[in-house]
Formats: sequence, structure tokens, C-alpha cells
Amino acid sequence: MCKVIICANQKGGVAKSTSVVNLGIGLANKGKRVLVIDNDPQGSLTEALGYP
Ligand SMILES: Nc1ncnc2c1ncn2[C@@H]1O[C@H](COP(=O)(O)OP(=O)(O)OP(=O)(O)O)[C@@H](O)[C@H]1O
Ligand SMILES: [Mg+2]
Repeated sequence: MCKVIICANQKGGVAKSTSVVNLGIGLANKGKRVLVIDNDPQGSLTEALGYP
């Protein structure tokens, strides 16, 4: 059974991307299969994970 975690806030610069990167990497390191979906057209989450 999969779990869906959404990180959303109307305010900018409140560490949404940073939280998702660290949560995603942390769960993956614990052996969980993780799919991170970047819905922000800025794409900073995608870039943070190494995809320019
Ligand atoms: N725990 C923390 N301590 C100090 N600085 C932090 C922490 N978490 C995030 N930051 C810094 O705060 C800034 C904003 O973080 P981030 O880009 O994750 O926010 P965001 O909510 O995704 O912003 P945006 O709305 O622009 O997408 C970044 O410079 C980040 O490095
Ligand atoms: Mg962001």
C-alpha cells in the first residue's frame, strides 16, 4: 500500500522544497521506494535532485 505525502503552502520560501528533498532521501535511505513529484514550475526540487 502506498502513502501519499503532500507538502504545500501558499507562502514562498518556507522550506517546502528543502523538506521534500530531505524527506525523500531519508525514506529512500531507509529502503522505501520513493517517487518525488515536482509540481512547481520553478523546478527547484527537480534541480536539487540533480536534474537540470
Ligand atoms: N532548516 C533550515 N534552516 C535554515 N535554512 C533553511 C532551512 N530549510 C530551508 N532553508 C533555506 O530557506 C530557503 C527557502 O527554502 P526552500 O527553497 O526549500 O523553500 P520553498 O518553500 O520551497 O520556496 P519556494 O516557495 O520559492 O519554492 C532556502 O535558501 C533554504 O536553503
Ligand atoms: Mg520550492
